[in-house]
Amino acid sequence: MNTLSRLAVPAVFSTILAAQSPGPYGVGPAWWNAGQGDLLPWEESYENPDGQVSILNKLGAVHTAGHPFFESLGENHRACVTCHQPSNGMSLSLATIAQRWTETAGRDPLFAAVDGANCPDLPQSAQASHSLLLHRGLFRISLPWPPENVRPDFQIEVVRDSTGCNLSPIYGLKSAKPRISVFRRPRIAANLQYVATLMADGREPSLESQARNAALEHEQAAAPPNPAQLRRIADFERQIYAAQGSDIRGGLLDEKGGPLALGAENLASGAAVFEDRPDSPVLLSFRVWEKHSGEGDLGLQREFRASVARGSTLFFTRAFRDPAGAATYTCASCHNRAAPGWSDIGTTNTAPEQASPDLPLFRITCAAAAPPHPTLGRVFYSQDPGRALISGRCADAGAIVPQQLRALAARAPYFTNGSARTLGELVDFYDRRFKIGYTEQEKHDLINFLRAL
Ligand code: HEC
Ligand code: HEC
Repeated sequence: MNTLSRLAVPAVFSTILAAQSPGPYGVGPAWWNAGQGDLLPWEESYENPDGQVSILNKLGAVHTAGHPFFESLGENHRACVTCHQPSNGMSLSLATIAQRWTETAGRDPLFAAVDGANCPDLPQSAQASHSLLLHRGLFRISLPWPPENVRPDFQIEVVRDSTGCNLSPIYGLKSAKPRISVFRRPRIAANLQYVATLMADGREPSLESQARNAALEHEQAAAPPNPAQLRRIADFERQIYAAQGSDIRGGLLDEKGGPLALGAENLASGAAVFEDRPDSPVLLSFRVWEKHSGEGDLGLQREFRASVARGSTLFFTRAFRDPAGAATYTCASCHNRAAPGWSDIGTTNTAPEQASPDLPLFRITCAAAAPPHPTLGRVFYSQDPGRALISGRCADAGAIVPQQLRALAARAPYFTNGSARTLGELVDFYDRRFKIGYTEQEKHDLINFLRAL
């Protein structure tokens, strides 16, 4: 089935698409360079290990020549698209990063010293200097300490840092302009119509302010982009949608009459938005896959779709308790449009002996008068204090803004610190952390649900 035939495509776009598209979905390039100047079609699909991810531009094909998301705005030859690639669901997978390193012998602008290295003062041609990017897919995020206009209610110390950056006399916490370096995955620059809280720590109030700082920091622009450029970037981001479009076992994920949660078109129309209730139309729409096989008589396809349907029920209705607190959750409690901005699920706060040796480790001491951390008390350790680096509140340490659960198959690894290499590892993390007790079949179903999103 041809994706084009299902949709009312304005004639002008369908002509452009037909001219560009080698296959029925139009399989796009794996890599976009800054300033490449090509047309980003109205709809295009890109290969990934589980199938294909779809990118949909609701307002039509995008002329990227001269477009500030696609052109380099600064000195290091990067553009926004460098770290937000269509083929990776407008994020960047570890596999793509590794391939870029091999193909360019580490000379791609992606690896720029400013944040594509563990620290800018390391020898840049050495692979080891980029180990967090190459092994975990992480970029360095450097934040001022204390935060601007905030008096923090805790003290932060560097316990150890194998990157050297937090201890560096130029870039570190004891430098003339004290800063803290944390290391984070790029987030999806698509479906942003639905994202209320931006960045892992919620530090950017708008897409425009985000774009301004991304140009100054990631692209090392000498001056901020002008207001027209910022508006153009934000407008672009509000109309581009990314979701897995087909699965090697499940076939087309966004067929007409199929589950509302799936596919870029359902995102663009607003039908796919997650709500945290057991009777939400998005959840109920998976019923069509419980029994029915879709087109053809492929047993594998029927099996996969039934598994995704079971996974959706687990995601929206299976309740579990937080052993560290009193609250009861489903996955949808935190992953829905109205969910609170950030929470600490234990991805970054850690006992020192369990800490990852490649990431920095900080000791946090709450002031005597401050509200302590809700589960960890007044003295504890973190590899990325998250929201607390912005709010200055001890109680926020380790609180992270959930990412969008879209195009997951196109952009492993997962969590802000890249600690879950696969969706299997991610589900195992939740199973352990919340003592859920999933069966192997339930894990399998939940993984299939996530890879279809
Ligand atoms: C060097 C890689 C890199 C470049 C270049 C880059 N980004 Fe990002 N982007 C990131 C990382 C890393 C994050 C997550 C940072 C965090 O969570 O603190 C991010 C986060 C975002 C987000 C937040 C999405 C969300 O759901 O919170 C948006 C939007 C975004 N980038 C847009 C842009 C734009 C626009 C540009 C160009 C002006 C750009 N990025 C350039 C790496 C990059
Ligand atoms: C208490 C709130 C909460 C609950 C419950 C919860 N999550 Fe999350 N989820 C988060 C937060 C916060 C993050 C970001 C953590 C980080 O990046 O360090 C996250 C991240 C994720 C990611 C990673 C996305 C990415 O782009 O890296 C996936 C996938 C995910 N959750 C799936 C689930 C599933 C499946 C369940 C149910 C078993 C679940 N979540 C339950 C809060 C929650």
